[in-house]
Amino acid sequence: MRSNILTLAFATLSAGHGIVTKPTARSAGDAMKAVCGQQVTNNLQSNEYGDIEQLSQIGASQKDFDPTACDVSLCKGQQFNDNVANVQTFTPGQVVPITVDIQAKHTGIANVSVVDTATNKMISDALIYFPVYASTSTDLPKNNTQFDITMPDVSGQCGTAGNCVVQWWWNSPDSKQTYMSCVDFTM
Ligand SMILES: *[C@@H]1O[C@H](CO)[C@@H](O)[C@H](O)[C@H]1NC(C)=O
Ligand SMILES: *[C@@H]1O[C@H](CO)[C@@H](O)[C@H](O)[C@H]1NC(C)=O
Repeated sequence: MRSNILTLAFATLSAGHGIVTKPTARSAGDAMKAVCGQQVTNNLQSNEYGDIEQLSQIGASQKDFDPTACDVSLCKGQQFNDNVANVQTFTPGQVVPITVDIQAKHTGIANVSVVDTATNKMISDALIYFPVYASTSTDLPKNNTQFDITMPDVSGQCGTAGNCVVQWWWNSPDSKQTYMSCVDFTM
């Protein structure tokens, strides 16, 4: 038992990948627990930097995981109701600096876009796109973790808090993992 716990702790530690640290991104709480279940929520809270594939894998074996209400491909299943205190207000054309913290590199692609939370579809074109991101064959370029986006005019769809997020999305075919963070906002 003891060695299992140690192995699990090591796997979690070595699995750190990335999250948005600025502006404040969604985190897990009781609303997530209600739809994603105890295990999935615990896993996310113990490693906020982890991938969504791991969350769906865990969820698949859990009775309290509702795959319809807990869509891990949208903000990792993190819910607006746990994040009402962290809603940004953006204006059309506003330049928003984004800070990402990457704990482990995995060569992939990344983008940031505005996503409609009701449909999990991009409203805008990508606001920034990295055809090569966090490559393991180079040092991490500065712009992978610090860059600006310019907000498009999405005031028609994003006037109400919870309807839209700015979503940072990073997919690594090498590691077969996807990482994401969502910033709630209104316009
Ligand atoms: C951009 O990110 C979205 C998820 O937010 C993803 O569905 C889409 O495939 C990505 N597009 C590109 C070109 O990377
Ligand atoms: C990031 O910086 C690299 C140079 O280090 C440049 O080639 C690349 O185009 C930049 N990417 C973006 C999305 O600005």
